[in-house]
Amino acid sequence: MPLFSVIASHMLAVDERLKEVLEQHNPVVREVSDYLQQASGKRLRPALVLLAGRVGAIGSLSFDLVEVASAVEMIHMATLVHDDIIDKAEMRRGMPAVRSRFSDPVAVLSGDFLFARAFQILAATRRPELVDLAAEVVYVMSTGEISQHLDQGRIASEEAYWRRIEAKTGFFLEACCRLGATAAHASDPVREALGQYGHHIGLAYQVIDDLLDWVANPNVLGKGVGGDLELGIYTLPVIHALEDPRFGEDVRGMLAKKDQDLVKNVGRVLSDSGAFDYCRQRAADHLRRAQKALEQVPEGIERQELADVADFVGAREY
Ligand code: IPE
Ligand code: IPE
Ligand code: MG
Ligand code: MG
Repeated sequence: MPLFSVIASHMLAVDERLKEVLEQHNPVVREVSDYLQQASGKRLRPALVLLAGRVGAIGSLSFDLVEVASAVEMIHMATLVHDDIIDKAEMRRGMPAVRSRFSDPVAVLSGDFLFARAFQILAATRRPELVDLAAEVVYVMSTGEISQHLDQGRIASEEAYWRRIEAKTGFFLEACCRLGATAAHASDPVREALGQYGHHIGLAYQVIDDLLDWVANPNVLGKGVGGDLELGIYTLPVIHALEDPRFGEDVRGMLAKKDQDLVKNVGRVLSDSGAFDYCRQRAADHLRRAQKALEQVPEGIERQELADVADFVGAREY
């Protein structure tokens, strides 16, 4: 991640807060809770809350901002712990996923524990609008995940793909920016511009994630690759190749046959067909739109760091 110099101390405060909130006296729960804290991830969502809050802040920076930033990271952790059950993933953040280290039932309950703690923190801010938006994030994301799950093995249009990733990730990153701006009492136009920025960052982020599932080094990525196709989840590279008159028939045949080398064989066609380049271009389009939205935001170091986040999203390998 870019070095968030301007929010470095607040990011440390978020880490401290996570430690406090996840601390448990029950020895069994403590083991899970300690495990959850061992691998930290990129912390993109709290960084967006803090940067959006600072860039839009009217008056002094409120204490709510660190609370909200901690809560969104906990919501994110909960969704990942649950997502790994759904996707039968083995690795997360460079370590065995909670479900592999403990069990699926422990992962279900740990996710619930994280969600509950996150909403307790938000409720304690006594700002119902923050609780409301965070609840909407979980609501929208769960509908996206349900529809993706029920669509397994079905070939969706590119338009349906964009709708799905908006629900899964676009809305969450938009909401992080809106939550930060709202917590800091930003003006309406600044909050809207930050929301637009987050929306485009979110779409690009998930497109790149779906691309990395094909092209990344799993040791660098910290999680398994190739899993989307194995689960029958057809992401943008596959959808694009299927819609390409030169390659569509081949890919369709491979998907129907499902032989042992499915991921390898489809991967070769995706590379030859330019589907990976297409994904990079689509992500770059959204990142340009994110940068454009920042023009409506007050200039300064925070705005520069938000621009750096957009650059990071386009270039990331993990
Ligand atoms: C993973 O999110 C899930 C997606 C929305 C793609 P991150 O890539 O932000 O995961 P961490 O927090 O860095 O582990
Ligand atoms: C994003 O989807 C996860 C959520 C929105 C919860 P993925 O299934 O692609 O995320 P990873 O690749 O497992 O991190
Ligand atoms: Mg997953
Ligand atoms: Mg993924």
